[in-house]
Amino acid sequence: MSEAVDVQIYSLQGEQNNYSFAEQSATLAGTDWLEKILAVKQTALLSVITDPFDYQGIDQVIPMQPEQYFMMDYLLPADVQGANVLEVGLGSGVLSIHALQQGAAKVTGLEINPKAKVYAGFNALINGVSDRLVIRDGDVNSIFAPVQGEKFDLIISNPPFEPTPPGMDYYLNSSAGIYGFTFLEKMLTTVLPQLADQGVLQIVTMAPGNLERPEMLIKTAQQYLPQGATEIICDLAPITYAAFVDRFVGIFGQDKSLIESMKAQAASDGVTHLHMCILRYRHNAPSSLTISSTPKIYEPWETPLGI
Ligand SMILES: C[S@@+](CC[C@H](N)C(=O)[O-])C[C@H]1O[C@@H](n2cnc3c(N)ncnc32)[C@H](O)[C@@H]1O
Repeated sequence: MSEAVDVQIYSLQGEQNNYSFAEQSATLAGTDWLEKILAVKQTALLSVITDPFDYQGIDQVIPMQPEQYFMMDYLLPADVQGANVLEVGLGSGVLSIHALQQGAAKVTGLEINPKAKVYAGFNALINGVSDRLVIRDGDVNSIFAPVQGEKFDLIISNPPFEPTPPGMDYYLNSSAGIYGFTFLEKMLTTVLPQLADQGVLQIVTMAPGNLERPEMLIKTAQQYLPQGATEIICDLAPITYAAFVDRFVGIFGQDKSLIESMKAQAASDGVTHLHMCILRYRHNAPSSLTISSTPKIYEPWETPLGI
């Protein structure tokens, strides 16, 4: 290897409903890093490498945050076992690797970031699941075009969902319009042809709304997922929209007036808060909508999404 690359090593610990990640830094140079990862792997449920939090390129392979173990806590074994799974937005591959370890028959992972595909492939290898993970190029314009005509028992995604100032060159893993909702909306409008009869769609996402509920997600789910049972499980503590977008001034040096105009738009659209949520949809189950809260706080919002 000609150039040293800094990475973060994450290892999953605990059990369902109480997962968490331990982390340490490593530099990909010489062979020490591989020994470090393999040593961590001895005791962890799974281990992955990602970019560090402070990596600033748009091709960042996203580090672990509460959203990943929130998703794992709510992935039901019965939905995963034996399933033909699609993941939209593979990143480090952590969710696909977890699904395979939980008994998925096969996972197809879509990804548009070339570096993420390399990291996901490496992570699948060290976790011993590479024979059941198929990595395919994602499509920036048409999310499901790479799997057109195919059906899946389970579709999972932790999509880009961060409110992003207009015109800002932000991470591929997070950039999603001023409410963090553009990718999710595109996904919900086009996902159904890929879901098998009785198939399940499960997404972890941040979603805009008011203090009580992620109204924009609820309305969109009602509109585009009418033919089944929808559950929305919200993390106990939302963050205010203003607190979330203000950090673009402090951390990313964005123009204050641009951020104020995002807040004014949000106020006129009735968006005051952002909720971290799980959306679970069962295709062709009797139509229903349930909204609930987690018993514990997943995202404490101390430093929003860690950065
Ligand atoms: C929030 S990250 C989640 C990564 C990983 N699943 C995890 O949970 O750590 C979202 C991922 O979606 C990828 N992505 C963005 N647009 C995509 C598209 N159109 N098709 C496939 N992947 C896409 C990004 O590059 C990024 O890796």
